[in-house]
Amino acid sequence: MNTEHRPEVLISSREIATTIDRLATEISRDYLGKEPLLLGILKGSFMFMADLIRRLDFQLEVDFVRLSSYGRGTESSGKIQVVQGLRTIVRDREVLVIEDIIDTGLTVAYLLEYLRKKRPASLRLCTLLDKPSRRRVPVPIDYLGTTIPDRFLVGYGLDYDERFRNLPDVCVLEDNE
Ligand code: PRP
Repeated sequence: MNTEHRPEVLISSREIATTIDRLATEISRDYLGKEPLLLGILKGSFMFMADLIRRLDFQLEVDFVRLSSYGRGTESSGKIQVVQGLRTIVRDREVLVIEDIIDTGLTVAYLLEYLRKKRPASLRLCTLLDKPSRRRVPVPIDYLGTTIPDRFLVGYGLDYDERFRNLPDVCVLEDNE
C-alpha cells in the first residue's frame, strides 16, 4: 500500500452529517426514556460516537471497549484482541453497540456474543459503514448508516497503520502497487 498520495473522498463530511442525523432520529425514537448504554468499539468509532451522541437529546451512558483485528495491515487477521475491556455493568441494561465499520463481521460478532452472556435487557447494533461483500459471519445490524463497496477506507476514525484517522471525510486509499 502506497500511503504517500492523497486519499480520495468517498463520503464527504456533509454526507456523513446527514447520515448521522437520520440515525439519531431512528435511535431517539427507539430509546427515548430508556437510558441506554452506548458502547463504542475503539479506536475507530470515537469520531462517530462523538458526533452521534451530540444529536441524542435524552439520558444515556457512554463507554468503550477496545478491540483490534487488523494489526498493522489492510486485511483482518481474523483473531480479535481485547486491548481494553468493559468496566460498566451490562446486565439488565439497554445496550447499543456503536461501530464505525463492519467488514468481515468478526469483531462485532465477537463483542455481541460476549455481551449476550452478560444478559443485557436488550442488545442492538449501530454502524456508520457496512461492507457486506466481505462478510464472513452474519451480523444483525439494527441501525445502518451507509453501505460501501469493497475498497480500503480511511478517515473519520478509520486508519491505515494508525494514520488518517483525523480526516473529516471517509476516503479511499488507493493501492497502486
Ligand atoms: C476496524 C473497525 C472495526 C473492525 C471491522 O477496527 O474499526 O472495529 O475493524 O472489521 P471486521 O468486521 O472485519 O472485524 P481495527 O481492528 O482496525 O481496530 P481500530 O478500530 O483500532 O482501527
